Amino acid sequence: MKNVLDFLGIQLAYSDEVFRPTLISENCAKLTDFKDKCVLDLGCGIGPLAIYFAKNGARQVSACDIFEKHLEFTRNNAKLNEVDIEIFYSDLFSNVKEKYDVICCDVSGVDKRVAEMTGWFPGDVPKADETGSNLILKVLDEAQSFLNEGGNLNIATTSFSDMTAIEDKISEKFLNSEVLIKIEVPFSKRLKENLQFLNKDSYKKIGGDFFWIFKLFKCSN
Ligand SMILES: C[S@@+](CC[C@H](N)C(=O)[O-])C[C@H]1O[C@@H](n2cnc3c(N)ncnc32)[C@H](O)[C@@H]1O
Repeated sequence: MKNVLDFLGIQLAYSDEVFRPTLISENCAKLTDFKDKCVLDLGCGIGPLAIYFAKNGARQVSACDIFEKHLEFTRNNAKLNEVDIEIFYSDLFSNVKEKYDVICCDVSGVDKRVAEMTGWFPGDVPKADETGSNLILKVLDEAQSFLNEGGNLNIATTSFSDMTAIEDKISEKFLNSEVLIKIEVPFSKRLKENLQFLNKDSYKKIGGDFFWIFKLFKCSN
């Protein structure tokens, strides 16, 4: 039987070879101001954000990813949910031709070793490098050229990346930025078991408990 998961009321087919939506995806969906807007979902995975935006009142939605398997699932999931989305292959902005009111970006932003060890990014799902921040920094460098006037980039980050480099880049590239949400996420069993491999700056210890940090930034000019 086909695997199907529920994402904020939307049914999405998935398999063991693809990235499954997370707490980060849910917060990106809920906190992005997309109503009546032209939106790009950059790094769409199996399509949760793009389909959520299209179902709930975005004017027009495009979704892209570098991983063909994800694009295949996004196409099928768009059909399953009867939404009309433009879906295309792109290495970050390499094939993006239009400008958007909102770019929502939950691209791989986790140190490759953590991505592999946790099982968050199964098999061939494209990962960031060992800084965790290479893809996000590139998006921040290039996003301006793909935003309409008054538009904004919402970008998800984790403490399993070089957050100092990311925050410096946000200040360099955008006049305005705010943190839409910051969540301290308790460690899974697997993270706890692999504590010795983690960079100490990537988590917080409170009493006997460990937390990594997710932040969603809204950037505009
Ligand atoms: C953390 S997952 C998030 C997926 C989806 N947004 C979600 O919420 O489930 C990161 C996504 O970025 C994609 N990705 C990684 N490197 C990329 C690149 N260079 N260009 C475009 N997408 C990329 C991965 O294939 C994956 O779909």
